[in-house]
Amino acid sequence: MSTPGPALTQPGTARAERGPGPVRVRLSVNGTEHTLDIEPRVSLLDALRERLDLTGAKRGCDQGTCGACTVWVDGRRVLACLTLAMSCEGHEITTVEGLSQDGEPHPMQQAFVEQDAFQCGYCTPGQIMSAVALIAEGHAGDDAEIKEWMSGNICRCAAYPHIRAAIRAVRDQT
Ligand code: FES
Ligand code: FES
Repeated sequence: MSTPGPALTQPGTARAERGPGPVRVRLSVNGTEHTLDIEPRVSLLDALRERLDLTGAKRGCDQGTCGACTVWVDGRRVLACLTLAMSCEGHEITTVEGLSQDGEPHPMQQAFVEQDAFQCGYCTPGQIMSAVALIAEGHAGDDAEIKEWMSGNICRCAAYPHIRAAIRAVRDQT
């Protein structure tokens, strides 16, 4: 299950006030550094999609209930629609665009294709980001556990049995 966003600032940590106008923010996304001038209120999802043209993370609900916007911050899945972009400075962001290596799809991307784990595909990037993290977290033991820990990713097309089959296939490879 995805979380609304990382607690990236420790309680009690002094931090200079910035904004409300545009502020300079440095984001590391898929291993590439980007410098943006954005208002502090800008979500990570908006920064990725509207400023960096990384449109893999999707806007479904924009209020933390569908999981379509799931990305990783320091390897942990978060909901980009509920995460402020500026809170991600100094952290590594990974989007679905960053999963493939040397032009080859990630095994989970390949498994989604082989298991027919989507219909419209709108939820798929978020499902894949959660699915890879789920295995890394050790939460892919059985179908009940997979269901529970993927419950933050909604699929309007109800491809759930196929999504679970893809997860099992990758789990059993590793
Ligand atoms: S768009 Fe972020 S949870 Fe739905
Ligand atoms: S494949 Fe259509 S919403 Fe999941």
